[in-house]
Amino acid sequence: MSARRVYGGVAVAVVLLGAGAWAVAQKSGEQSEAPAAAASASMAAPASAPVAMAAAAPAPAASADPVLEHGRYLARAGDCVSCHTAPGKPAFGGGLPMKTPFGTIVSTNISPDPQAGIGAYTEAEFARALREGIARDGHRLYPAMPYPSFARVNDEDMHALFTFFRNGVQPVAQKPPATDLPWPFSMRSLMIGWNWIYLDKGVYQGDAARSAEWNRGAYLVQGLGHCGDCHTPRSMLGGVKAASERKGEVYLSGAVIDGWYAQPLRHTDRPTMAQWSSEDIVQYLQSGRTSHTAAFGAMVDVVQNSTQHLSTQDLQAVAVYLQSLGAKDGAQASSTSTPQATQASLLAAAPQHPSALALRNGTVEGNSGAMVYLNNCNACHRSDGTGADKTFPALAGNSVVNAKDPTSLIRLVLAGSAMPSTAKAPSPIAMPDFGWRLTDADVASVLSFARSSWGNQGDAVTPAQVAKVRDTLKPVAKNP
Ligand code: HEC
Ligand code: HEC
Ligand code: HEC
Repeated sequence: MSARRVYGGVAVAVVLLGAGAWAVAQKSGEQSEAPAAAASASMAAPASAPVAMAAAAPAPAASADPVLEHGRYLARAGDCVSCHTAPGKPAFGGGLPMKTPFGTIVSTNISPDPQAGIGAYTEAEFARALREGIARDGHRLYPAMPYPSFARVNDEDMHALFTFFRNGVQPVAQKPPATDLPWPFSMRSLMIGWNWIYLDKGVYQGDAARSAEWNRGAYLVQGLGHCGDCHTPRSMLGGVKAASERKGEVYLSGAVIDGWYAQPLRHTDRPTMAQWSSEDIVQYLQSGRTSHTAAFGAMVDVVQNSTQHLSTQDLQAVAVYLQSLGAKDGAQASSTSTPQATQASLLAAAPQHPSALALRNGTVEGNSGAMVYLNNCNACHRSDGTGADKTFPALAGNSVVNAKDPTSLIRLVLAGSAMPSTAKAPSPIAMPDFGWRLTDADVASVLSFARSSWGNQGDAVTPAQVAKVRDTLKPVAKNP
């Protein structure tokens, strides 16, 4: 553990804050596994590290038991494999290190081995671990395990999950190294206080005023999908600020996770995915790309290991639920009085935008952002910012480009990225890294240019913001 990641402090409040940071820092272990991704030609995004091994693990033969098969499906909805598998190791054997500001948390073995895994768990103990964060022997789990979300899972689904983890998973006899956090974070009993504030007990309660499809979507998003763990901002103590749409507008309103900005999954006063057609949302979750955007960062893992395996019907329900969030009178919400331009309308107008004309005519002298764009980005994303269907995302009207927080944009340009590889879209098309040849000022000006061209309305990016992100991408020294 590197000293620069430890902020110290022994007050209980700080300890509680630490507990939350664990949840926030979730899978930064992968980042430390592959810090070179920032400097490499980016064929593999950092988040794809454990995916390869998950895919390499032999898939157990399908069973005739429909309950077990349902459990397998639910385990994918919960993305258990991403956290509970170490690179190159058997699925569910645990051992994935997750770097946090307070030390490294190692995921545990949840295969049915009675000693090394959870083979000795009764169904009630399994349900208690998933819903309340209490292990079989009574010790508290750190919220790096998303039990506050899994608390929503109903009894029937819990039974199916238990059946799958008991009978559908290959036992792994090896116990991963134990999590050994420095005092005071080693005191797991502190989670009792954290849970008192953040653990909202009780399975999902349907909203009778809404359709069955909407309720199905809400159940998946709030529960097993734990989408809010990344997409909802966290409070000072590290708990999510809202666990459902009933808790306020802040739910799924966007947050920085693991060095990427997870965009809002609701209507805001900027372009967001909630304005996409439901077909586009389903396609994105199934294949990791649409004709205008592609997944990157932590979402690569989510698409590859989880959402691509969900049924079209379930993804359609997720889309219906997300499209309803923040929507006013069936249309998109807007806190301003100006009508919100959609990506479709901006794309249609983009070829005639002054930026497109200037790039095409080569009249960009004196505009440093446009110059950088012409020399580095134009070939793929095009002068009119429309990109190329399912290959190079369109920058015009893009929710990523217009996002309030530019963290993802800066990181994409500095470090590059590769799309998820899914059954529906196998090629992990990559964006190169530019951090080695563009200065902070270059990156700031090209992003400011992209955020103000083709009808986009993002705020300017400053060199200081770029410097900050560049600093987080530096590999952390192994032995301080
Ligand atoms: C975001 C990462 C993450 C996801 C997703 C996740 N877990 Fe966990 N889980 C953890 C971590 C980390 C621990 C260990 C926590 C600790 O040691 O305090 C854990 C612990 C557990 C335990 C306690 C085991 C023991 O005795 O130590 C069980 C059971 C469990 N997880 C089951 C699941 C299931 C089932 C799913 C999918 C529905 C799942 N987890 C999804 C991170 C995750
Ligand atoms: C481990 C963290 C994590 C989890 C869990 C997660 N996401 Fe994401 N998601 C991200 C990040 C980071 C991005 C930004 C990268 C991108 O746009 O591809 C993102 C982007 C997205 C986008 C694209 C938004 C846009 O404007 O382009 C959609 C749609 C999405 N997530 C849906 C979901 C849904 C639905 C769930 C739950 C089933 C979910 N996410 C769970 C991290 C996460
Ligand atoms: C070789 C082609 C190529 C070049 C050159 C390129 N990009 Fe990209 N860009 C991509 C690909 C491919 C993706 C999708 C990556 C992913 O999803 O992991 C992408 C993604 C993006 C995104 C995110 C869009 C979204 O919806 O996911 C932004 C913003 C972006 N690029 C900006 C830039 C800028 C600015 C430059 C110039 C500094 C640039 N790109 C140069 C290919 C390229």
